[in-house]
Amino acid sequence: MNRWSHISVNPIAGALGAEVSGVHLGELGDGALNEVREAFVEHQVLFFRDQEITRDQHKAFGRHFGTLQIHPYLQPLKDQGHPEFVVLQSDEQHPYLAEAWHSDVTFMDEPPLGSVLKCIVAPDFGGDTMWASMYAAYEALSDKMQRVLSDLVAIHDTTRTFSRYEYKTDHIGGRQAPQVMSAEHPVVRTHPESGRKGLFVNSTFTTSIKGMKPAESDALLSFLYRHITTPDFSCRFRWRPNSVAMWDNRCTQHRVVADNRTANRRMERVTINGDKPF
Ligand SMILES: [Fe+2]
Repeated sequence: MNRWSHISVNPIAGALGAEVSGVHLGELGDGALNEVREAFVEHQVLFFRDQEITRDQHKAFGRHFGTLQIHPYLQPLKDQGHPEFVVLQSDEQHPYLAEAWHSDVTFMDEPPLGSVLKCIVAPDFGGDTMWASMYAAYEALSDKMQRVLSDLVAIHDTTRTFSRYEYKTDHIGGRQAPQVMSAEHPVVRTHPESGRKGLFVNSTFTTSIKGMKPAESDALLSFLYRHITTPDFSCRFRWRPNSVAMWDNRCTQHRVVADNRTANRRMERVTINGDKPF
């Protein structure tokens, strides 16, 4: 029996990810919105095709899920009245950003709930995005390893990204971090809506495990970073202009597939504020 009455939901992979059709994100009724919410918590990342929405509609859709974040270092459309947008532009002169697995902005005490990313210009081929389920990654560990991780806290900071001099984001309205920002989060977090546990360390922002010797911390983190790349935990999405992806930043990681490097690719994102991981 089809449990959805307002939308169609078709999973694209076993661990996470579903394509939603039958909706226009600029004109969502309450019934469809409630089903999108439910599908979001269940599938962790949702995809919508052919969404001709304005920036205002893009923001309004994001606001159904919470207040929008203004990124501390990336505000490329601020002068156009849209400080909430992050732009990802890559082409012959500008390399892809985000080609390592990560969750967004985990160097803040309250990392985002999720993001809504719209494709403006898609390469003819390549430049896909991958997501990985941190529930699946956690659940694949042995009971013993799950127990070891359950009491651990990790440090997340900007030393590999926004505080690094070579990390150039000028072309997308970025600025250098004046000082290192850092936060502490549990290595295993519990999702506030689903109640499920997932890994919450990522190779872009997590730098160490609190209270461990550097060699111990490095060994454990590199094991986890390798573990989360297991293809079984992932899904992959091919972009077309007006495709929209909405991911749950609390239980997934993502990265760009950095192939076809000279192609023009432009994406615009709004980010929904989240709460303190526990
Ligand atoms: Fe990202």
